Amino acid sequence: MLTHIPADVDRLIEPCCGSAAITLAAAQAGRARRFVLGDSLAPLCALWRRILDEPAALAADYQRLWARQGDRPRACYDEVRDAFNRDHDPAKLLFLLVRCVKSAVRFNGAGAFNQSPDRRRRGTRPERMRASILGASALLAGRTEVRAGDYAAALYDATARDLVYLDPPWQGTSGARDRRYHQPLERERFVAELERAVLRGVRLIISYDGRLGARRYGEPLPAHLGLVHVELPAGRSTQATLLGRRERTVESLYLSPSLVDAR
Ligand SMILES: C[S@@+](CC[C@H](N)C(=O)[O-])C[C@H]1O[C@@H](n2cnc3c(N)ncnc32)[C@H](O)[C@@H]1O
Repeated sequence: MLTHIPADVDRLIEPCCGSAAITLAAAQAGRARRFVLGDSLAPLCALWRRILDEPAALAADYQRLWARQGDRPRACYDEVRDAFNRDHDPAKLLFLLVRCVKSAVRFNGAGAFNQSPDRRRRGTRPERMRASILGASALLAGRTEVRAGDYAAALYDATARDLVYLDPPWQGTSGARDRRYHQPLERERFVAELERAVLRGVRLIISYDGRLGARRYGEPLPAHLGLVHVELPAGRSTQATLLGRRERTVESLYLSPSLVDAR
């Protein structure tokens, strides 16, 4: 993935950042001067701000929440989840993210976090979490802007010197009946926004559909956008391994014409 990032990127903009894996890897590899992290989940953006600005205090808050589990982990999880649904505190979100099933955020129709706890694990140990928080902060603080909001606003703001990496909720995982994400992604609007950005010459890398073995999931992005499609091996699927199959996940990346032409 990093090999598709050109050498002259001013800002790497990640409008659907989640855990910002690509931004962290790009910062580590020196692939951009500055970074913009965005997500429509406002408490997640508040968490990123705390990682950047108050890493030690955030690590201490996490340690307190983690230690409270004692011999009543389930009750503690429920208390933290209820409290998070009232106050949207970023440290509580961090605790829920690492304690919930498959670390997969789920929201109910009313927008409340409703994922269950993973009964087999206690969540990342505080010392390890502290190292991750301090490491991310050291890589990004002072050169990263965090903006809560819709990906479209980040696209409008991008210039020809930037690179936008878009990893929106996957198709089939964000429809009305599957509330894996707090907000579903509408494909038609997404395609229209991409079209506008391509016309403006914005350099884009988009993760969208993929396949597991021979099975495709998600509808490819339309050809009229003029994007170049590349496939990226993403390793063995854990789900398939659990079911005794040796299938490999292949993710699709789409590169905008301005990115491909510049190489
Ligand atoms: C597939 S995840 C991104 C994972 C990320 N690449 C990582 O490294 O963890 C998609 C993210 O998009 C966010 N999202 C959903 N709808 C959005 C929207 N309309 N605008 C911006 N972000 C959105 C979700 O909150 C979620 O964090």
